[in-house]
Amino acid sequence: PAAGWAIDADVVVVGSGVAGLTAALRCTAAGLATVVVTKARLDDGSTRWAQGGIAAALGEGDTPEQHLDDTLVAGAGLCDEDAVRLLVTEGPDAVRRLIATGAHFDTDASGAISLTREGGHHRRRIAHAGGDATGAEISRALVEAVRTRAVRTIENALVLDLLKDEHGRTAGITLHVMGEGQHDGVGAVHAPAVVLATGGMGQVFSATTNPSVSTGDGVALALRAGAEISDLEFVQFHPTVLFLGADSEGQQPLVSEAVRGEGAHLVDAAGTRFMLGQHELAELAPRDIVAKAITRQMQAQGAEHMYLDARHFGAEMWEQRFPTILAACRSHGIDPVTEPIPVAPAAHYASGGIRTDLRGRTTVPGLYACGEVACTGVHGANRLASNSLLEGLVFAENIAADIVADPDRGAPTPVRGAAVEAERPGDPVPLLDPAARIQIQRIMTNGAGVLRSAGSLAEAAERLEAIRADERKAAVPGVEAWETTNLLLVARVLVAAAAAREETRGCHWREDRPDRDDTDWRRHLVVRITPGRS
Ligand code: SIN
Repeated sequence: PAAGWAIDADVVVVGSGVAGLTAALRCTAAGLATVVVTKARLDDGSTRWAQGGIAAALGEGDTPEQHLDDTLVAGAGLCDEDAVRLLVTEGPDAVRRLIATGAHFDTDASGAISLTREGGHHRRRIAHAGGDATGAEISRALVEAVRTRAVRTIENALVLDLLKDEHGRTAGITLHVMGEGQHDGVGAVHAPAVVLATGGMGQVFSATTNPSVSTGDGVALALRAGAEISDLEFVQFHPTVLFLGADSEGQQPLVSEAVRGEGAHLVDAAGTRFMLGQHELAELAPRDIVAKAITRQMQAQGAEHMYLDARHFGAEMWEQRFPTILAACRSHGIDPVTEPIPVAPAAHYASGGIRTDLRGRTTVPGLYACGEVACTGVHGANRLASNSLLEGLVFAENIAADIVADPDRGAPTPVRGAAVEAERPGDPVPLLDPAARIQIQRIMTNGAGVLRSAGSLAEAAERLEAIRADERKAAVPGVEAWETTNLLLVARVLVAAAAAREETRGCHWREDRPDRDDTDWRRHLVVRITPGRS
């Protein structure tokens, strides 16, 4: 749509989680005119919901090298070792800078940062705040810093598309602002550098830990702009999400891995611990292994969920260490102090996203990506728990440094012969009826969820194509129509990638291809829309 208003900036940051606000604060500190645009309010993204914490080698005896080893094992052969090395080496100082920005982490009696364990970590390495409200504290501190430093922000602004100059370089974004104010309706922010930090796409599935704003907007924008997307098939399902009923849809309450980190047991209805003997770390095995074990157990026993038993914590520990989870469970009529918590896996994190190099550059010059929307290479086929807040921090700082240092921005070399090519959407993009959202979510959960097969993916692809081809879709332009349109695009690309990867690896579980195939598949699937194709 044509822009009705426009403003100029040096940098526009899209998204206001840990990645976006860190990038914005660093760019502002360097004297760049920076604008943050965000779809809802500044604290409405996924960061605020993070419970367990932020991983970094801060503890005595821990080293970045050990953090690297655990990250590579979880990533199942597909991590970019240079990216992981950067993450774990820069991580401890990045956390200290976050503390200097104003975030308060829990400390022990000696004043040292308290560290917990989560799946896949061989050490206590997870810093936390407010017990199990780490993301909320990080979000609070960053929002406050953005306000104190008077960073320009535009809330209730859905990003639509990337603007490019005649050389194909980034020139800004178009956006749709809802509500009262100076900038209402469709407008533009002109800037030679755009940082996408729009978060994930959990809403592409029926049940997810992600808030309703996580609709894959950044990946959809990047696809339309011709940027490369990688590893989209690796959707992480969190093993322990409070089970509210098989037909419960939308955002579901998370029960942090840190609960297992402090000694909770996974049990079936008979009280048997089924993770013992499956992995040396038992309940603290990497997330994909625990999610698969729970799913297998559910299938074998015809059960809708398993249980997390932490009654032995006692009331005091529950209240002090996990107040958020305790309140969420109690609000749904479950008291973890006296009964086991019903849990099942739900969509949690997109390990893939917009392909970037170590400086956060995408394949479109001037377009950067960081946080969940990006695929920096640190997660591989399965993200290690609590590495995502850290990735957002570290790569946002690198992006800011790159924007400040290099006005003539380059871009990583495109991958030759992308493995999956999606068709170019028409221009203007036909908007979908928001009623299709729930259909897309159900199709994805049934066909491309925790378990997939060639057959289920083919059926999902066919049903998504039917939605795309439906001529009755023309909706009134608005956030819900754009979100649904974005969900459909990312769903189709995700299904295509999952169908193409004919193996089981990390969090991509193909029932018809149960083995990991390092001969043919130790490689990434890159997706891009071919310019000119229609
Ligand atoms: C959790 O607290 O279990 C979530 C941690 C994460 O997703 O990294």
